[in-house]
Amino acid sequence: MSALPQEQGSLVQALQQPERIERAGRSFYRGQLHGHDVVLALSGIGKVAAATTTTVLAEHFGVTRILFTGVAGGLGDEVRVGDVVVAQSYLQHDMDASPIFERWLVPGYASITMDCNIALTQQLALATGLCVEQDGHAIDWPALGLEAGHRPRMHQGLIVSGDRFVSTQRESQALRSALTTAGHDVLAVEMEGASVAQVCADYGIAFTAVRTISDRADDSAHLDFGLFVEKVASRYADHIAHAFLKALPTAAGG
Ligand code: ADE
Repeated sequence: MSALPQEQGSLVQALQQPERIERAGRSFYRGQLHGHDVVLALSGIGKVAAATTTTVLAEHFGVTRILFTGVAGGLGDEVRVGDVVVAQSYLQHDMDASPIFERWLVPGYASITMDCNIALTQQLALATGLCVEQDGHAIDWPALGLEAGHRPRMHQGLIVSGDRFVSTQRESQALRSALTTAGHDVLAVEMEGASVAQVCADYGIAFTAVRTISDRADDSAHLDFGLFVEKVASRYADHIAHAFLKALPTAAGG
């Protein structure tokens, strides 16, 4: 599953025996990649759109594993533009049914954070580490407004999602300090992953996700978002998805 069309483009081209299927006003592409039966999908923007896409993947396609790629705003101190975050868990930062329920808890679920699948996430971190290292040397960082010697890093931990593009220092600080005070060490913010994690929990689908940091979720718009997606995020997403699938055991093989 891709958050952005630019990330999906080259995967659709690489698909063997591709078939396009329309469901819920969305296009899904079914075929084979690196020996796996796969379905490529765009999540749509925001939690509900992503939840609908995930539900179609579960109900219509019967998927058992989901890899999600996209971009996110960096919240952790060390999480810089051009870095990537492999999610270990997710939380919906705009869910608040307090004081009836604990803040951020989706009523009916056991805990505030939803965990990603451990085995898939280990596999994803291996693929991501290699791709970021290789791509980091090849990307023209100054063309994107970053220093020439920029070396992207991979982080692993909590990503939070909500139906809001966080674009002020005030909001990102408020978000971060509320979470940190409650013991949640947040790395990044985006708009879909936690809802996909929730639907995956409902259906027993193994879920893993990686996000490229496109901004610091603050007022500084020193980067051209479209150019960044084209030159960095879509490149990472493509390379990571291929490396992940190549190394992944087929469903029949365990
Ligand atoms: N995706 C990328 N950057 C983001 C931000 N700052 N807030 C929410 N989603 C994002």
